Amino acid sequence: MARVGVVGASGYTGGELLRILATHPDTEITYATSREYAGKPITAIHPHLRGFYSTLKFSNVSLDEMLKKCDILFINTPQGVASELAPKLLEQGMRVIDLSPDFRLKNQQDYRVWYGFEHPRPELLDKAVYGMPELHREEIRNAELVACPGCNSTAALLALIPAVEAKIIELPRIVVDVKVGSSEAGIKPSLGTHHPERANVMRPYEADGHRHVAEVEQELKRLAKEEIHVALVPHAVGSVRGALATAHVWLAQDVDEQQVWRLYAQRYGREPFIRIVRGAPFRYPDPKYVIGSNFADIGFAVEKRIGRAALMAAIDNLMKGAAGQAVQCMNIMLKIDEKAGLNNPPLRPA
Ligand SMILES: NC(=O)c1ccc[n+]([C@@H]2O[C@H](COP(=O)([O-])OP(=O)(O)OC[C@H]3O[C@@H](n4cnc5c(N)ncnc54)[C@H](OP(=O)(O)O)[C@@H]3O)[C@@H](O)[C@H]2O)c1
Repeated sequence: MARVGVVGASGYTGGELLRILATHPDTEITYATSREYAGKPITAIHPHLRGFYSTLKFSNVSLDEMLKKCDILFINTPQGVASELAPKLLEQGMRVIDLSPDFRLKNQQDYRVWYGFEHPRPELLDKAVYGMPELHREEIRNAELVACPGCNSTAALLALIPAVEAKIIELPRIVVDVKVGSSEAGIKPSLGTHHPERANVMRPYEADGHRHVAEVEQELKRLAKEEIHVALVPHAVGSVRGALATAHVWLAQDVDEQQVWRLYAQRYGREPFIRIVRGAPFRYPDPKYVIGSNFADIGFAVEKRIGRAALMAAIDNLMKGAAGQAVQCMNIMLKIDEKAGLNNPPLRPA
């Protein structure tokens, strides 16, 4: 049994980790932090976990306790926390899976540009492995530090990877729109995310350069071996969970839908959490049919008349977009079944 700790366990991604790991066959949660709920039971903030974790209480963040109690640690905190905490743990031999943006980017300058943040430990950026198994499975296996992708980035990348690798689309410019549910904003309401303001919205935000663009460009550049420019416009929608990315691309080759299908089926054929969606009546991916699961549903439409395609990916932002993908990485790091704890179908209706 691997002893697992969760820092930021009172938030949404932390809660989702606790939910997944409650029935994981090879791990035991030994440490869960919350500064606000320290000393209180897990159900004080996660009532859906009643009956699990009867002896576990939230702790305050303590380096010594983490080192004593855990072999592997998930960090689910806002930007700027993991880059202070992780280095001290890594020095003591702990393996760290960070869900925040602190280690996703390779280039220190990009943190200044996209996050307005002076990275305190830039030497660790090269050591961190971008935690998307579909791109970095072999490096994740022996990684000490895994930086899990953002939810919008996960959906955008999964929609685009095969097309960019095979260069069937025109580069370097790609336009992506993302629709995403309210849980992406975390558990603490702000004016924009407070329920009365957020319910029923279809609201674009950060339309002139969302932070997730940096990691999407970084990973696509690596695949294409050329400069890539991504315009990504997220839209807040009324659902609680779910993200749908649609990449609007021009075809560089004369391919029809059957050929695109074959390309995607070949690229993702062995991926345990990718499903290619095709055929009526549910012709295109819809986050509604992945909720509660680690699946990413991928689909496409080819408009031959004008040489255009729409490449789409639907995920649950808290699962494949956060905690599910993080557990998938942990399973790879522990060299156990990659699907352990994650092998459940989505909810329906959700
Ligand atoms: N929500 C998503 O869909 C999603 C998807 C992918 C990635 N992410 C990323 O994952 C991270 C967590 O997101 P979330 O949605 O779970 O946020 P959240 O619901 O706001 O939870 C944040 C957690 O961090 C703790 N925390 C805050 N400041 C801290 C500090 N200075 N030191 C230690 N703990 C601190 C909070 O608990 P206390 O205040 O009680 O300590 C809380 O448990 C973020 O970086 C986010 O960008 C989120």
